[in-house]
Formats: sequence, structure tokens, C-alpha cells
Amino acid sequence: MTILECKNLTKEYYSGENVIKAVDDANLTFEQGEFTAITGPSGSGKSTLLHVLSSLANPTSGEVIYNGESLKKYNDKQLSILRRRRFGFVFQAYNLVQELTGMENILLPVMLDKKSPDEAYLNKLTEVLGIEDRLSHLPSAMSGGQQQRIAIARALANKPAILFADEPTGNLDGKSGREVLTLLKYVSAEFGITLILVTHDLNVAEQADRILTLSDGKVVRDTGEAAQ
Ligand SMILES: Nc1ncnc2c1ncn2[C@@H]1O[C@H](COP(=O)(O)OP(=O)(O)OP(=O)(O)O)[C@@H](O)[C@H]1O
Ligand SMILES: [Mg+2]
Repeated sequence: MTILECKNLTKEYYSGENVIKAVDDANLTFEQGEFTAITGPSGSGKSTLLHVLSSLANPTSGEVIYNGESLKKYNDKQLSILRRRRFGFVFQAYNLVQELTGMENILLPVMLDKKSPDEAYLNKLTEVLGIEDRLSHLPSAMSGGQQQRIAIARALANKPAILFADEPTGNLDGKSGREVLTLLKYVSAEFGITLILVTHDLNVAEQADRILTLSDGKVVRDTGEAAQ
């Protein structure tokens, strides 16, 4: 089943008289549960593509279709509800709230949505991520890998359909990075979550079901194309 699509998706930035096509006419389809890596050199448009696909940024033209519905029809409030309930985000910087414990950080999106937490699901999640003994600690008492695993649990707390990750292992050493990637893959598969992950690291990209390669805003290679 297709969960996310984009048609003729373009994002332009203007600097003086120059127009930069950070995303140039992308036409893509993402299947539910699929793990896609987006790769390419610095400045090729990886983060921008992730931002427009996830509605964190508005496209200049073209459209994004989530679960069969064009996001063009959504107003800002509907988009923010969609992002809160159906999308999870993990970035290179863990962005944890320093004054809150691990568990309080994880529960933030659930609280923002005025929902009661699914205790059984959260227990499973923290167990799978191996962070049960960090839940009462502040981020300052955690390693980078532990902080990123808390950030992943926070991104998954609302059971999103799609997890968007931008260089999630970028701040970690090789070993912690591999551990975090293995866990991301595992939890996505375990909970049927579609994973769209930006990385410039080919070893990371090779772990994906499908690799999209960008160059100057264009998708120049899509290993999933043959399968569609
Ligand atoms: N807010 C902005 N204003 C102007 N230009 C921007 C902006 N954000 C990105 N760009 C430009 O768009 C292009 C794509 O940038 P983007 O950040 O998407 O690349 P990237 O592939 O994620 O790079 P990196 O690997 O360094 O993170 C670059 O030329 C960049 O300079
Ligand atoms: Mg980037």
C-alpha cells in the first residue's frame, strides 16, 4: 500500500538574483513499511526533500499526497496535527528538553496531543531500544547514543505511520551509530513504520530496502524503481 507520494515536487530558494532548485521535480512513491535511504553529496537537497515530504516546509510547486490525500487541501493547523499524530522526526541533534527526564521527553508528544500513553507499547519500545535504565535520568547524564535512542522513542511515542530521520547517526561514533541504525530498522519493522532516512554515509544507506540518490536537487538514481 502506498503511504506517501510526491508529484512534480519542487522547492526553490532565492539568493539575490539566483534561484536554487533544492528539490527539482521529484516524483516518488513510498510504500508502507518500506525503509528508504536518501543519499547524495552535501547541498544536493536531501534535507530539503525530507522537509517538503514531511510538510515541515512548503513546496514551491507540486504536491505531496499522504494516504491518498493531497496535503494541498490541509491548512496549517491540519498539517501540524498530521505531523504530530502520523509523522515522527529524528534529527542529527537529539533536541531533548534538558530539564526533563528521559521518560518525560518521550511522553512530550503524547501529552501535547492530550492523549493518555499506551503503557504496554511504551514499555515495549523502551525495552527494544534498551533505555529502560535511563528513563529517570536527565539528558546530561546520558551518552549521545542513549540520547538519540530517547529521541527515537519520543518520535515513535504516538505510533506514527512514517518516521523521518535526517542524519540520525551523524553525531555518533561508528559503533553507537551502527547500534542506533540497527534499532531504527528493528523498531520500524516491528511496528510496521515507514522509514525515510537521510544519510551521506553509504554504509548506512546500504541497510535500506531502497536508496534514492540526489544530485543538484534531482533524483538521479532510485534502486526501488524497478520494483514499482
Ligand atoms: N533556507 C535556505 N535558504 C537558501 N538556500 C537554502 C536553504 N536551505 C537549503 N538551501 C540550499 O539548498 C540546497 C540543498 O540544501 P540541503 O540542506 O537540502 O542539502 P543537503 O543535501 O541536506 O546537504 P547536507 O548533506 O550538507 O546536509 C543547497 O544549495 C543549500 O545551500
Ligand atoms: Mg542536510
